[in-house]
Amino acid sequence: MEEDKSRILVIGATGRLGRELVKSSVDLGHRTFALIREPTFSDPNKSQLLQSFSLNGVTLLKGSLNDYSSLLDAVKRVDAVVCAVPSKHVLDQKLLIQAIKEAGCIKRFIPSEFGADPDKVQICNMDYGFYEKKAEIRRLIETEQIPYTFVSCNLLMRILLPSLVQPGVNSPPRDKLQIFGDGNTKAVFVKECDVAAYTISTIDDSRTLNKVLYLRPPGNVVSMNELAEMWESKIGKKLEKVYISEQHLLKTIQDTAYPSNMELIFIYSIFIKGDHTYFSIESCGLDGTELYPHVKHITVSKFLDTLL
Ligand SMILES: NC(=O)c1ccc[n+]([C@@H]2O[C@H](COP(=O)([O-])OP(=O)(O)OC[C@H]3O[C@@H](n4cnc5c(N)ncnc54)[C@H](OP(=O)(O)O)[C@@H]3O)[C@@H](O)[C@H]2O)c1
Repeated sequence: MEEDKSRILVIGATGRLGRELVKSSVDLGHRTFALIREPTFSDPNKSQLLQSFSLNGVTLLKGSLNDYSSLLDAVKRVDAVVCAVPSKHVLDQKLLIQAIKEAGCIKRFIPSEFGADPDKVQICNMDYGFYEKKAEIRRLIETEQIPYTFVSCNLLMRILLPSLVQPGVNSPPRDKLQIFGDGNTKAVFVKECDVAAYTISTIDDSRTLNKVLYLRPPGNVVSMNELAEMWESKIGKKLEKVYISEQHLLKTIQDTAYPSNMELIFIYSIFIKGDHTYFSIESCGLDGTELYPHVKHITVSKFLDTLL
């Protein structure tokens, strides 16, 4: 533990990304605090995780995004806050922002985003407010003049990659593959543990103050055609490819009820509109891979090896 490093509070610490943030925070020598909801303390599925937090020196604080006094108490004990609650709770961060403002001690806040950049996506009016809510939180943070870093990590590897972007499926295809659009638009996939390592690295870094941190690690920016080729060489077999046009995908989105159509909407955003890669990072933020070359990230190819 290094005294000059920020004390970090993780909210959503028992979640899939949250637990990686806690681990990275501890690994990088920060005094680490986790805000845990009261019922979670007696959840048998989470007891081992909470025990491992305690064993690793993490301070567990009882509280919730919906309980102002618990937020204020927790925020006053730290220098930085990272929130990783699921997207359906994004607007619940408003109370947290109020607590951060009142406490006045927070040097960095990283709100729950961890996806494509909500200010850059080109699918407004078709995502049921998914990105609009994240953008609303950005505007509130800016208005309240809370020091921030927004992390645009693009896709977590557990999303879409295990199926090679085949909707409604959990394992990779062995015979036939649907490819959306011409298959050349590039997407970005990053493993949770690497997203966490980049995120925690920004906290005491003045270069990332009030900036957007983009993650596009080498070996993790791939098109569907490249994914198909990579997978074919790993399984030693050519796949039958079915190209799905933009019009066809849009029609399927229209014909599928919400929320089942959200997966297709993300596919449209990423593989047709190119929302991960259509803009240059230099024009709007910082490149996490350039700032933190020490993070030895897991590449798409290495991840595909785990699916064989
Ligand atoms: N880019 C992508 O591909 C992608 C995919 C999925 C998620 N994400 C992003 O990753 C982040 C985390 O998602 P996740 O899938 O890791 O979440 P998750 O596994 O569902 O975990 C949610 C966490 O939030 C906590 N939580 C929920 N409501 C809360 C409240 N009111 N107060 C305090 N804690 C609360 C839960 O605590 P309990 O243990 O008490 O339930 C749990 O620790 C989000 O920013 C999400 O948008 C990105």
